[in-house]
Amino acid sequence: IPEGLDLKKAIRQLCKEKDAIILAHYYTVGDIQDIADFVGDSLALARKAADTDAKMMVMCGVHFMAETCKLLSPDKTVLCPDLTAGCSLADSCDAADLKKYKEEHPGYQVVSYVNTTAAVKALTDCVVTSGNAEKVMASFPKDAKIIFGPDYNLGNYINSVTGRHMLLWNGGCHVHEKFSVDGIVKLKQEHPHAVVMAHLECKAPVLAIADVKGSTATMLKYAQAHPEIKEFIVATEAGILHEMQRTCPDQTFIPVPPEVSEGGVGCSCNECEYMKKNTLAKIYNALKYGWPSVEIDPAIAREAVKPIQRMLSLS
Ligand code: 13P
Ligand code: SF4
Repeated sequence: IPEGLDLKKAIRQLCKEKDAIILAHYYTVGDIQDIADFVGDSLALARKAADTDAKMMVMCGVHFMAETCKLLSPDKTVLCPDLTAGCSLADSCDAADLKKYKEEHPGYQVVSYVNTTAAVKALTDCVVTSGNAEKVMASFPKDAKIIFGPDYNLGNYINSVTGRHMLLWNGGCHVHEKFSVDGIVKLKQEHPHAVVMAHLECKAPVLAIADVKGSTATMLKYAQAHPEIKEFIVATEAGILHEMQRTCPDQTFIPVPPEVSEGGVGCSCNECEYMKKNTLAKIYNALKYGWPSVEIDPAIAREAVKPIQRMLSLS
């Protein structure tokens, strides 16, 4: 990268030259959200990827999000600034393990969270996101036999609000599992009027005390729709605070600190290190060299796109 280059300007110029758009998730750093053509939650990003006329897109998020873009726009180049930007939740469900589990449970349909690899989606009947899970699940008969994965917390939440008995995969997100009731109660003592918002990937006790539960976009939209509420306690990855503060400058957003496990094991921050692998320099290089792009085995892609399309048609 040439010394002294204005990266933001250079990226926008490359987008123009290459007919490319930048899609960014709310958890990426503020600088990336600021230069993106579109910032959203998993559902909105998938919709945008399916709709765009641009020849190329740079998906600034994690690998499964770039795969979703490629599945929905197979003829377009989908760049992923860092192919090693994984997801602990997607990693918690291996396709071979799911295949075996399905074989052990004949007659069951598989509903998967969008945070999964294309190989897992290829074994899935319908995908959901945190933004549409309840709506999409309503299309399944109440007594349908369902395997839900990989997020145990989201599946457990759906079971609890719908009275279903889905079989739950035991996966989780290493960032969201660290939020604790104690941390929220402590903040609530300091800010008694604050409304508590939590992502559906949080554990059941955290969701039980949250006033607003949903996807990143659910929380953002709630704050935007309630200017009369002046303080929010936010239990999700801290990157979302950038868009919350940008669009709601008169409201205060307080991030919940994660609970560090005994002995200080694990990451002690409420940030997703995979999302933070996206940098302006990597975006610039991806656009300049057209690499790295996401490629999916055609046989897997053929099957994996079906449950995503089913979700999009239902939500
Ligand atoms: P959203 O669909 O709410 O953006 O969530 C994606 C995610 O990875 C949360 O950890
Ligand atoms: Fe995956 Fe968790 Fe990061 Fe979301 S926050 S992308 S679920 S690791």
